[in-house]
Amino acid sequence: MAGRGLFITFEGTDGTGKTTQIQRLSVDLRQANYDVCLTREPGGTPVSEQIRDMLLNPDHSEMAATTEVLLYAASRAQHVSEVIKPALKAGKIVISSRFADATVVYQGYGRGLDLERIHHLNRIATDGVTPDVTFVLDLPVEIGLQRVQKSRGGLDRLEREKIEFHRRLREGYQLLAKQEPQRLKLIDAQVNPEQVYAQIQAVIQPLLRQ
Ligand SMILES: Nc1ncnc2c1ncn2[C@@H]1O[C@H](COP(=O)(O)OP(=O)(O)OP(=O)(O)O)[C@@H](O)[C@H]1O
Ligand SMILES: [Mg+2]
Repeated sequence: MAGRGLFITFEGTDGTGKTTQIQRLSVDLRQANYDVCLTREPGGTPVSEQIRDMLLNPDHSEMAATTEVLLYAASRAQHVSEVIKPALKAGKIVISSRFADATVVYQGYGRGLDLERIHHLNRIATDGVTPDVTFVLDLPVEIGLQRVQKSRGGLDRLEREKIEFHRRLREGYQLLAKQEPQRLKLIDAQVNPEQVYAQIQAVIQPLLRQ
């Protein structure tokens, strides 16, 4: 795997367990002596983290949908060039909580922006970097939001959007998984964390042996 690396992304609506699973996977991979680079979107670099603060700030409810999608693209371009590309080149396993699919789902299926324009922006921002595998954690949105409320006691700007918005996101992710089943793996996230992890391991292990 040296010199090639492995790029794994986690997607899914809020509270589906992305952070929980990434944490566990990274501990196991490091224990097995893999060099792991953990990152997240929006964010992952100082420049991108500042853009993240702007995007998630509950005071910015006036933010136009086009502004939002351009900020995500800007954040991603920096993340790819500063973190993801160099890590993959060094042969590392890069694990990102959310990546380009999130823009297709949130701004495309969620906000109704033109999908072709989003794909075009993604091509610019990712500069050809595509995940080897993407886990889509799938869960009824009410359950995810309840989990988030319980653990953090508050919701950020996007989490406050109405429940129908979140339903469109879930359907968007399910659709992407159907369109690209080789890369996107739909994972049942309604079961306990161990059972979710077992589904992830079943996909990861054969990839590591390649
Ligand atoms: N399979 C599970 N069953 C029940 N609770 C879970 C499960 N996985 C995670 N949780 C809990 O749900 C909450 C949200 O989990 P986590 O932060 O991992 O989700 P996330 O997808 O990263 O959320 P966000 O979209 O907000 O980043 C946490 O309190 C976590 O402990
Ligand atoms: Mg998380």
